[in-house]
Amino acid sequence: MSTAISPTAYNYKVVRQFAIMTVVWGILGMGLGVFIASQLVWPELNFGLAWTSFGRLRPLHTNLVIFAFGGCALFATSYYVVQRTCQTRLISDSLAAFTFWGWQAVIVGAIITLPMGFTTTKEYAELEWPLAILLAIVWVTYGLVFFGTIVKRKTKHIYVGNWFYGAFIVVTAMLHIVNHASLPVSFFKSYSAYSGATDAMIQWWYGHNAVGFFLTTGFLGMMYYFVPKQAERPIYSYRLSIVHFWALITLYIWAGPHHLHYTALPDWAQSLGMAMSIILLAPSWGGMINGMMTLSGAWHKLRTDPILRFLVVSLAFYGMSTFEGPMMAIKTVNSLSHYTDWTIGHVHAGALGWVAMISIGAIYHMIPKLFGRTQMHSIGLINTHFWLATIGTVLYIASMWVNGITQGLMWRAINDDGTLTYSFVEALQASHPGFIVRALGGAFFASGMLFMAYNVWRTVRASNPAEAKAAEQIAVVGAH
Ligand code: HEM
Ligand code: HEM
Repeated sequence: MSTAISPTAYNYKVVRQFAIMTVVWGILGMGLGVFIASQLVWPELNFGLAWTSFGRLRPLHTNLVIFAFGGCALFATSYYVVQRTCQTRLISDSLAAFTFWGWQAVIVGAIITLPMGFTTTKEYAELEWPLAILLAIVWVTYGLVFFGTIVKRKTKHIYVGNWFYGAFIVVTAMLHIVNHASLPVSFFKSYSAYSGATDAMIQWWYGHNAVGFFLTTGFLGMMYYFVPKQAERPIYSYRLSIVHFWALITLYIWAGPHHLHYTALPDWAQSLGMAMSIILLAPSWGGMINGMMTLSGAWHKLRTDPILRFLVVSLAFYGMSTFEGPMMAIKTVNSLSHYTDWTIGHVHAGALGWVAMISIGAIYHMIPKLFGRTQMHSIGLINTHFWLATIGTVLYIASMWVNGITQGLMWRAINDDGTLTYSFVEALQASHPGFIVRALGGAFFASGMLFMAYNVWRTVRASNPAEAKAAEQIAVVGAH
């Protein structure tokens, strides 16, 4: 089988597989998001069944959007970028294929076990130990393929995008393995190796850095390749990108305690988390500015290129959520925002505005190249998708700000005699209009993904195998 493969060609097969699955999981994960958002508007949609209840489907939503949609986008783009910037084929086709099928198996495992109620109860780390072990094996293999390819590169230096992808791979492995240390008591049940406040601290060291390294650093790798490529401009400052890299990875790892303000965690750890979160604004904005300024002299392209618009607007949302995050990490602000929909709005400013938008832009950039076409089937449909995604994100986050602040203020309001002014149900009733707007915004965003699926399908169908094969050839000069 491998004899037919030319070493002078890129392995695009695995990139194509991950790219297509990004769209598929995007539709399912976001569709499920719209469904659970609708459950908060119409609780009858829980159907009175355990496995269709909000509590079981919510973790399935987060697993599908983060690990299935986001994960496939990261695998696809990292395999594409590492080959093109190193001008060499992935080190092993069979290991790369194993990462694809192994990753899909983990996702299918999540789709089966989470609605059944099997969960470690740790947020974003819900999968029980057999799936967690499979995930760890797939991840280590991913590291071998990625770093092995870097080692056999034909270029002298390692492009900065690969530094970001590399840090994302290493740190994710570390977080996953440490946070999942547990004692299995049956095939579907295990207990964490940690207890009490230590367990909480490990979990939010994991949780925050899952955001920092999975949902941020990996996607910054994407930014450093796809923004310059799509804008046809070199990155604004290579020097800034190096400072950005080291500052970001050194600071992120300390900020986890901002998830545990006013808890049993020692006070000094909470204050440290707060201070580090505020400092984190600097590298975050440094990176955003580096991406934005890459468009200097190319701003006019935004008028005609909706793919570039996806990439640039994603950076704007990245800037916004990394400003909001440090503010929410301040203890007095957090005392209002914590437990409210403000957090949910912040999450989706990052998740929809940044993570999903940059992934969508990168996939639109790659699909024609992977299938030997000059461009996507319809630029008009990309534009429609862009507006649906942008309006959807704005509706989502604006409604959650209103809800979050309303909830926070109503919960803390007290009468002269010290009793609560509002009952919890009154705050819930006040949130109802916001829930409707959020479901609507989500439906906008998710329907955009259907346009994407159609556009991708038409582009792929228009390609013939010879064109696709030709696209794999490594052009030595200026290949990346
Ligand atoms: C400088 C950057 C950032 C800082 C300092 C930050 C800070 C925070 C803070 C203080 C919270 C609320 C914690 C709580 O009250 O429970 C939070 C929640 C969250 N943030 Fe951020 N944020 C940043 C960027 C981002 C980005 C870019 C994303 C997404 C891509 C993101 C995703 C999340 C998620 C998923 C949660 C919810 C965690 C949970 O409780 O389940 N954050 N962040
Ligand atoms: C159509 C798009 C989407 C809709 C309608 C949607 C809806 C929702 C809803 C209703 C929740 C539960 C909120 C609650 O418990 O009050 C949620 C949670 C969450 N979603 Fe989404 N979502 C969408 C897309 C995404 C994407 C693309 C990502 C990540 C890349 C994402 C990441 C998350 C996370 C991390 C949480 C948990 C937040 C927390 O615990 O603080 N979502 N989503």
